[in-house]
Amino acid sequence: MASRGSFSNKLGFILAAAGSAVGLGNIWKFPFEVGNGGGAAFVVLYLTFCFILCFPVMITEIAIGRKTSLNPVGAFSALGFKNWNIVGKLGLFCGVLILSFYNVVAGWAFGYFIEMLMGNFEIGQAFGEYIKDIFKVGAYAIVFMFSTAFIVSKGISGGIEKAAKILMPTLIVMILGLVVYAMTLPNAMKGISFYLVPEFSEIDMGVIGGALRQAFFSLSLGMGALITYGSYVGKDDNIVSSAAYITLMDVGIAFIAGLMIFPFVAFNLGGDMQQVTEPGFGGPGLIFVTLPGVFENIGGVLGILVGSFFFLLLSFAALTSTVSLLEVPVAYVVDEHKVGRTKAVWLVAGVIFLIGIPSLLSGGYSEFFSNFSRIIGVADTIDADFLSFVAATADVLLLLGGCLIVFFAGYIWKKHNLNAEIAQGYKGYDNSFVKTFLNFAITILCPILLALLFVMVLLNNFFGISII
Ligand code: PHE
Repeated sequence: MASRGSFSNKLGFILAAAGSAVGLGNIWKFPFEVGNGGGAAFVVLYLTFCFILCFPVMITEIAIGRKTSLNPVGAFSALGFKNWNIVGKLGLFCGVLILSFYNVVAGWAFGYFIEMLMGNFEIGQAFGEYIKDIFKVGAYAIVFMFSTAFIVSKGISGGIEKAAKILMPTLIVMILGLVVYAMTLPNAMKGISFYLVPEFSEIDMGVIGGALRQAFFSLSLGMGALITYGSYVGKDDNIVSSAAYITLMDVGIAFIAGLMIFPFVAFNLGGDMQQVTEPGFGGPGLIFVTLPGVFENIGGVLGILVGSFFFLLLSFAALTSTVSLLEVPVAYVVDEHKVGRTKAVWLVAGVIFLIGIPSLLSGGYSEFFSNFSRIIGVADTIDADFLSFVAATADVLLLLGGCLIVFFAGYIWKKHNLNAEIAQGYKGYDNSFVKTFLNFAITILCPILLALLFVMVLLNNFFGISII
């Protein structure tokens, strides 16, 4: 254990895991998914999924990690089920896919921080041109991968935990400051009511699937990120309460991010929120196109300050997530191939950067990668560019991974083993309601619903077939 490293205490773990969860998913993806999903109805579904379906998956992942003190691939083998390490491999693959495109978007965000500092508010209108300029965005992506690798190379307590302990509180303070400011803008309340007053007639398969995908992605579930972080958790920590804090922080920050973004968007649209739901308006560009205009309207030094502050915040949030994404394959290479951490980190980071190049080219620079989904004949429920295609693929794989992990815990490893691991560090667990709910969730609720929803999302996203 000593040579693998560990978190120094429960708070360190919670902050690092919340750092993994809170990221571009909360601040970049959540608002445009809410826009696509028609507003508040999406939010209600998302919250329900987080607490009912995702929370049990999170506890299971952490418990598997802590029990085995290993990466996701090694963990399944160490529990005695070598064939099941395919689930770990699937997670590893999925993590590599996510980091490959996520790093590109994180690079955009970091680049926007620099542009805002220079007072370049026109960048929002020129977003299309900006992401086409692959030397510029490529350089930002390199800087981002480099920073991620640097932190991961410093190890668990000295790198990942330390970064989270600085970045997470900073992020929370920044985001609260921006919410207070956003609320003072004209039309702020129109944005808030779009966000918070549900229109249940809007719910269809696209909205349900979108909310579930968002819940999984946002909580970093289904690919073993939390198996990996769980492997560095102390034996006397309470897994259930840690998972509760992580979930609450992630959901809380996504929710608060909405309170910041929607007033900004409403301000920019003069209160006409209908536009947000129109195809082509939202999408990956939503905050990159809309927000610079808001900061320009604020004007002057204040505009520069608020704008650069926002994109710095986004970069910080992304960094604690890219760190967790890189840690998964690194832990695998260190544990299973006995390579030293530093060497493993730089090697894996380099390879994943290369895998991300098609995503980097898919913002208009390469015709082929920019129209990838249409060229290979995927339904137009997914945006045409390669980056969106990879993101959508990863999303469905997370659902599959989550489903297999709970199924494994419930029926293969068996729930009494899971319960025994959770009971360590949680005194009253054996007679608790949490135990009853969790056992029901991992044997019945989650495997069935996740399997069903996985198939439905797959059909809907990739083939345009909608069952409801
Ligand atoms: N949860 C992160 C976010 O919301 C993304 C992520 C997914 C990180 C999966 C790790 C694993 O931005």
